Amino acid sequence: MQGQRVLLRVDFNVPLSDGKIVDDSRIRAAVPTIKALLDGGASVVIMSHLGRPDGRVVDGLRLRPAAERLTQLIRVNVPTTGDALGVGTDDAVRRLRPGELLLLENVRFHAGEERNDPSFAERLASYGDVFVNDAFGAAHRAHASTVGVAAYLPSYVGLLMEQEVEALSNLLDKPARPFAAIVGGGKVSGKVAVLEALIKKVDLLILGGGVANTFLVASGRSVGKSLYESKMVDDARRILKLAQDRGVRVLLPVDGVVAKEVTRGTEFKVVSTDKLPASWHMVDLGPSSITAIREALTPIKTILWNGPLGVFEIPSFAVATRELAKVAADKADAGATVVVGGGDSIAALRQLGVAEKMTHLSTGGGASLEFLEGRDLPGLAVVPTAGSPYETLPIIYVAPVKPGAKAASKRAPAKPKPIIKPSALDDEDDESDTPA
Ligand code: 3PG
Ligand code: MG
Repeated sequence: MQGQRVLLRVDFNVPLSDGKIVDDSRIRAAVPTIKALLDGGASVVIMSHLGRPDGRVVDGLRLRPAAERLTQLIRVNVPTTGDALGVGTDDAVRRLRPGELLLLENVRFHAGEERNDPSFAERLASYGDVFVNDAFGAAHRAHASTVGVAAYLPSYVGLLMEQEVEALSNLLDKPARPFAAIVGGGKVSGKVAVLEALIKKVDLLILGGGVANTFLVASGRSVGKSLYESKMVDDARRILKLAQDRGVRVLLPVDGVVAKEVTRGTEFKVVSTDKLPASWHMVDLGPSSITAIREALTPIKTILWNGPLGVFEIPSFAVATRELAKVAADKADAGATVVVGGGDSIAALRQLGVAEKMTHLSTGGGASLEFLEGRDLPGLAVVPTAGSPYETLPIIYVAPVKPGAKAASKRAPAKPKPIIKPSALDDEDDESDTPA
């Protein structure tokens, strides 16, 4: 690393409220790679996106708050540029000395980023001697700063990427059994593929949130005014059938908290899911469901949890999610492997102060779901992995866009031509974690 200029892609796409960072997990998670590079004598040019500014400058989506937080975490000043590209940025990059870093302004202020425009990627690539991708959270995006730059620079993955891949691969390849997946959140759409993949891996599937409502409908119950997706009922039925054929137990809520409105301070009560009232909304799991979950998890040795079990933003309806966070902590204490993904699930663990007990907290929302589905993540696929412990993963080597350009890597074995169609992979996932 000594003396190298490293172009590092991270995912600093953190939730903001009034310009303040609500959860800095993704910034913290990038620190080990940043420190390793600086300590190794590299100078580091960091790239990230924030939000979806759609190719325009949006002042509220500038990366300054992330730079300030990173400065506090690593105790090294992190200057930001006013623009990801430009004369000022060229200059700032040129002046960097070994052990120094800077953060480029939000790459999505340029339309070329999401389009993976080769000339935009080439400009970005001119800021580094090598490319390191540590943005696991954005690895499912085939954009200029995650994929495009790899055509111009020797490319590597960072420590966070490695850790995520290892934790999620272990889960799929050699889970200690019995293995349970708990899937909540608002929508089934976007989760069908991962549910289908999980049914083939797990012994127990526990459903909550809006996801469970759609499955309740699929199993013949009516859910009143509760959030559910009529278009997904057939998929839910197919998944239930698949589970039955494979002998996988599916735990659906037996009771729920129903509310007059999905707002704070509204009237609510507990009812059986066999007789959900027509004009009420199911907003959380009820006490019998929570007990059933706790019992079902007793023998479980591996847990994957993604998504809240109720309307987590409203404290009265966050009970089941918080109870599950407690159970997850107890399980982890007792030696189970517990992997958690999704902002709200992790927030529940943080509120209870038990987040650090988990085996792994994934910084990926859409990315971790796509990984668990077994799809190739473009940001990972673009990095040659020959000789790495993950060589056996279904990773595709993407040939450089310009055959004559600085080689993507000499280490890459001759492999089939690019099979990745960015457009096919780069859908708007989106793991809305919240039943709303
Ligand atoms: C995420 O939070 O899902 C990643 O940072 C990617 O962001 P995106 O969904 O806007 O592409
Ligand atoms: Mg997303």
